[in-house]
Amino acid sequence: MKKILICNQKMYLTKDEAMNLSYGYDEIDFSNVELIVCPNYLNFEYFEDYKLGAQNCFYEDKGSYTGEVSPYDLHLRGIKYAILGHSERRMYDTNEIINLKVKACVRNSIIPIICVGESKIEKELLKTSSVLKKQITTALSGVDLTDDYPVLIAYEPVYKIGSSSPLSKEEIEDTFKYIKKILDDMKIPNYKLLYGGSVKGENVKHILSDEIDGYLVGASCINASELNTIIKCIK
Ligand code: 13P
Repeated sequence: MKKILICNQKMYLTKDEAMNLSYGYDEIDFSNVELIVCPNYLNFEYFEDYKLGAQNCFYEDKGSYTGEVSPYDLHLRGIKYAILGHSERRMYDTNEIINLKVKACVRNSIIPIICVGESKIEKELLKTSSVLKKQITTALSGVDLTDDYPVLIAYEPVYKIGSSSPLSKEEIEDTFKYIKKILDDMKIPNYKLLYGGSVKGENVKHILSDEIDGYLVGASCINASELNTIIKCIK
């Protein structure tokens, strides 16, 4: 099974920068990974040759919702994935809102990439398990999934995003065991587990594991040579 590699370009790139990065992507051999590129909405056009994901979407399909982006319209434009509940958005989106968004994605044949993860304080207070359980069970509550409809869960400990190093492989594997149990208890038929948080060319070799289905990459994906190093290590 190829590893999944999701490039979350966040709000890093202007139009010209995105166009330049797309030339860099064109030089990379992505054949050993399942690549999903998540540019900001305005930059989709530069990455049309790749499987595309949105960085967010709204939970209604149409209507008077100024500034929101419709999952129905994303679907019509060929967008196959959407990142939901990223920690950089959780100040706007509660677990309940994320649940509505997951339902909206599934209704519109968009595969949700649900981000979960504890903050540093929550970790110190030994609340990691309860935080993850609440985030996952609420996000997937009442969602009608089938064997052929995968859901991607991206475990991103908040304090590891944009930091100097990722979580250790052992810690990721331990947490994945717990996440798997939650998903199995919920009878979620088809899921993949990804890790995100400071995945870089220099460290990805330390977090390769059969238990990790893929990686959600932020800063490293806006530098084509850094991304290429990651791809070569995953091979
Ligand atoms: P970094 O790879 O920059 O730490 O970001 C991770 C992330 O937030 C991906 O969604």
